[in-house]
Amino acid sequence: MLVAVIKESLAGEARVALVPESVDKLTTLGYDVAVQPGAGLSAQYADEEYEAAGAVLDAAALDSADVVLSVQPPTSQQLRALRQGAATFSFLPTLQSLDVVAELRDLGVTAFAMELVPRISRAQSMDALSSQALVAGYRCAIVAAQRLRRFFPLNMTAAGTVPPAEVVVLGAGVAGLQAIATAKRLGAVVKAYDVRSAAAEEIRSVGAVAIELDLDTLEGAGGYAREMTTDRAERQRDLLAPYIAAADALITTAAVPGRPAPKLVTAAMVEAMKAGSVVVDLAAESGGNVEGSVPGSVVQLGGAQIWGASNVPSQMPGPASKLYAQNLVNIVTLMTGDEGFAPDFDDEIVAGTCVTHAGEVTHRPTAEALEERE
Ligand code: NAI
Repeated sequence: MLVAVIKESLAGEARVALVPESVDKLTTLGYDVAVQPGAGLSAQYADEEYEAAGAVLDAAALDSADVVLSVQPPTSQQLRALRQGAATFSFLPTLQSLDVVAELRDLGVTAFAMELVPRISRAQSMDALSSQALVAGYRCAIVAAQRLRRFFPLNMTAAGTVPPAEVVVLGAGVAGLQAIATAKRLGAVVKAYDVRSAAAEEIRSVGAVAIELDLDTLEGAGGYAREMTTDRAERQRDLLAPYIAAADALITTAAVPGRPAPKLVTAAMVEAMKAGSVVVDLAAESGGNVEGSVPGSVVQLGGAQIWGASNVPSQMPGPASKLYAQNLVNIVTLMTGDEGFAPDFDDEIVAGTCVTHAGEVTHRPTAEALEERE
């Protein structure tokens, strides 16, 4: 059976779905591996490294593939090259990609969306949202440190003492905790806030001060947060305003599954920050935690600059690809039996991750959204 690796075509996507060191994990399972030439180049993996690892280079790899691996959803052209019954694994934000889902369904492709991997212990090694959030959180802290024209750490020198930078992080999920840990390692004084009750302990465990507000916590299903009411959102902004005004750098990473990013910071709150302050909004692409942030751009607001995130994991494509490839290898391994690729649709991970199979949309919220549209 053949696993094909797509050369990504979306502008700005530098990751690749399989790295050379993961090739033999698939060949050991009995798969042949074909990689489209140049697939790993932007993540610094040369074609020769794939060949040395046991893959073949083949621009037409999709034509005969049983399993297709990519980061972004395959394009229409790529999908039309697939044979019926082929399986695809990629990120696939289904509700924003209904056209692609309809195409996958109509072509009889079995499509798996990596953002749908259930967040249960058994699936942790396949959890691509977490692996990419880890990269994004790290990168956010580095961007903040690089854009801030002052030290993160305390410096006590013969010439005098330079105080450390104050960093505030809003949203302490996977990305936020990594941003906190990274800013701490760089020596900043870090304070953080999250609406979930478990978050305060997690914030303290990575060395930051947990900001405690006189507000209810917002637990949602599956360990996620719930959306704020308008009233609570306003109170949260009021209570956070003094912390943000005192910060040199603000990093926002808050998200609520299936909803636009919560607005945590108004333009007025940014304008109240000190001259030279830096705001990094990781949620810029999903509506922004910060009013005025623009994905992929830096916007000046008062004395502060707002850096709007755009495909942040792709900005560290080597490690992001390596982690994502391992997630894919683990999920393909789960679906491989003695006879090769044979997903068991009674398995919670398989069923939860599958979007289309045998001409049907199997992911119920997506099927409903598609029905409504059609
Ligand atoms: P996410 O990307 O959906 O959200 C990021 C963070 O934003 C969350 O911590 C959320 O509580 C926070 N947030 C939402 N609204 C907010 C608001 N108004 N103000 C401040 N913060 C707000 O979440 P992520 O990072 O994907 O994971 C969140 C949690 O999911 C983890 O902390 C953990 O409990 C759970 N999880 C479980 C896993 C597993 O069991 N395999 C793997 C990864 C995460």
